[in-house]
Formats: sequence, C-alpha cells, structure tokens
Amino acid sequence: MNTVDCIATKLDIREFSQENVSPSIISIILNSARYSGSGLNTQHWRFIVIKEKNNIKKLSEDSTSGQWIVGANFAIILLTDPNYGFHLLDAGRVIQNMQLSAWENGVGSGIYTGVRDEKMRTDFKIPSNLSISAVLGFGFPKKSITGKRKNRKPLSELAYNEVYGNSKNIT
Ligand SMILES: Cc1cc2nc3c(=O)[nH]c(=O)nc-3n(C[C@H](O)[C@H](O)[C@H](O)COP(=O)(O)O)c2cc1C
Repeated sequence: MNTVDCIATKLDIREFSQENVSPSIISIILNSARYSGSGLNTQHWRFIVIKEKNNIKKLSEDSTSGQWIVGANFAIILLTDPNYGFHLLDAGRVIQNMQLSAWENGVGSGIYTGVRDEKMRTDFKIPSNLSISAVLGFGFPKKSITGKRKNRKPLSELAYNEVYGNSKNIT
C-alpha cells in the first residue's frame, strides 16, 4: 500500500476482533513512533504499551471518551512534555505515524484524549511532569471497512489559491 492509499483508506476503528497482533507488527508501530520528527528533535514522547487484559480494562475505566478501548488487542498511552509549546503538534505527528503503519499491516486503531487524569496516573505510574496526550487502541478490525467512505469536506471548502477565501483553480 502506498502512503496516499494508506491515508485515504484508513478510518478510526473502535471495534476489534479477538485475533492477536503479532510482536513484529507491534515493533513496526513503535519504531514508526521512534522515527517521527519532533520539535528541536527533542523526542520528549514516551509510550506505555498495554497488553494485559486487566490493564486494558483499567484504561477503559480511566477513560471519559474512549471506553471502546476495552475491546482493543493492545493499547499505547502517549505521554508528551508540556514544557515544549509544540508538544501536542508532536503528539499528532507520532499518533498519525503509528496509526498509518498499523493500517499498512491491516491493523486498525483509534485514539481518545478524554481521561480521568489523576486515577490514570496512579494506575500506570505516570510521572507528573508528562501530559497524557492520547491513548491509542489497536487490533484487527472486527468488521470489514472496505468500501466505507470517509466523511470529509471537499477541498474547495478547505484550500485557497494565493489568498484566503479564493477557492478557484486550486489544482
Ligand atoms: C485530537 C483528536 C482527539 C480525538 N478524541 C477522540 C476521543 O476522545 N474519542 C474517540 O472515540 N475518538 C477520538 N478521536 C478520533 C476522531 O473522532 C476521528 O479521528 C474522526 O472522527 C475521524 O474518523 P475517521 O478517520 O474514521 O473518519 C480523536 C481524534 C483526534 C485527532
């Protein structure tokens, strides 16, 4: 799958099959995170990989907007350093790289940001100097998503030619 196809076909997945994701695919996903570029090359991100079912259940209980994580095969907690003003920009880049490399290998994923911060820090021993920027859940999709269309605005609404508001002759 080339990069554009990967971006164009990937959807966020919140229902997963029971099939295990292999350690080699998990390694590909983590290395895609590691290869990502960060502001000033600070690489301030840290990743907690959660595979044990009881810990995935805890993640679900600690979530306010991602209870679906309970069905994930594994999860990754993404921590970033809020002392860097660009830390959430870095978070977005690393999230996208992990999701795309998962999808290239047939593995679906979703993210959420709503967490019960204090409880989650206690449950996963997260230090106070790092932000819990997102949680990602991974697994093979339960249902086929082939042919499902993305709900996206047309380019004419999003991109302008030379000056803001001019949507003529963009491409
Ligand atoms: C910054 C950000 C925060 C998000 N937070 C949540 C969330 O809390 N819970 C959730 O289920 N999905 C969350 N999502 C996933 C979005 O809902 C999803 O990317 C969007 O609906 C597009 O999905 P699609 O690619 O499947 O069309 C978040 C995505 C982003 C980029």
